[in-house]
Amino acid sequence: MAKKVAVVGAGLMGAGIAQVAAQAGYEVTLRDLTEQALTRGTDGIKASFDRFVAKGKLDAADAEAALGRISTTTDLEAAAGADLVVEAVFEKIEVKQEIFRELDRITGPDTVLASNTSAIPITKIAAATAHPERVVGTHFFSPVPMMQLCELVRGYKTSDETLARAREFAEGVGKTCIVVNRDVAGFVTTRLISALVVEAVKLYESGVATAEDIDTACKLGFGHAMGPLATTDLTGVDILLHATGNIYAESQDEKFAPPEIMRRMVDAGDLGRKSGQGFYPH
Ligand SMILES: NC(=O)c1ccc[n+]([C@@H]2O[C@H](COP(=O)([O-])OP(=O)(O)OC[C@H]3O[C@@H](n4cnc5c(N)ncnc54)[C@H](O)[C@@H]3O)[C@@H](O)[C@H]2O)c1
Repeated sequence: MAKKVAVVGAGLMGAGIAQVAAQAGYEVTLRDLTEQALTRGTDGIKASFDRFVAKGKLDAADAEAALGRISTTTDLEAAAGADLVVEAVFEKIEVKQEIFRELDRITGPDTVLASNTSAIPITKIAAATAHPERVVGTHFFSPVPMMQLCELVRGYKTSDETLARAREFAEGVGKTCIVVNRDVAGFVTTRLISALVVEAVKLYESGVATAEDIDTACKLGFGHAMGPLATTDLTGVDILLHATGNIYAESQDEKFAPPEIMRRMVDAGDLGRKSGQGFYPH
């Protein structure tokens, strides 16, 4: 089992991944650009452990031991001894490619290089390295300590061994994996939610049903925890417009074409919860 893990990016996702890895017994090196970012990340991890301890779901001594397994650094070279590196920096392709180019140089050929990207093709990130076969997507969900799923994404050249080792890591930190066998835009999860959101918005836009009734149909008819329009408000209308638009651009599949009303809502500033108005008032 890979015992040493480096996590690049100590934001929401990187801190969460470092937390579950340390809890599972991995030695974790957490890297960000500044000490402030690292402190924010480790403060978040401590606060999360405290909540688990307060709820009786984690022993205080185990939380302490897990924290002790996380070391922080601003130096990417510290990833050198890792068996697996998970990158969780900003969703910008140039930033990720630069990091993978560096990781390719810093780490040995046996190190698995994983990206937590939600939407950038793994193949494009892998192309920045000399060993694209060792690059893979490990798409965790937020909040990482709570959400069970990890979407494993094969890039065009990802090897079976790399995928197997990424799975071993994700399962080792307690997640259930699904495998995305082709590096398609939106992977599996964003394609599914996009298809549902697009159809829900079309039904709403054409007056077939109200927002409340569409969401109620999904909740009571299919057992969804939240309806697609409430989900869009929570995530941001602009974010889902971008996600579906991106999948449509790559796939040319009409079912992902974003309905016009989503663009007008974004133009008007009705972005959902964060702006106070979306499909619902907030
Ligand atoms: N937030 C979510 O719900 C979610 C869910 C799944 C996947 N993702 C993906 O995970 C990744 C990270 O998202 P996040 O929400 O944690 O972002 P975030 O903004 O909370 O954190 C990003 C961190 O990366 C750091 N960073 C930037 N450049 C860096 C570099 N060169 N080296 C080291 N650190 C660097 C930043 O300082 C910041 O602390 C993105 O690719 C995102 O698409 C996010």
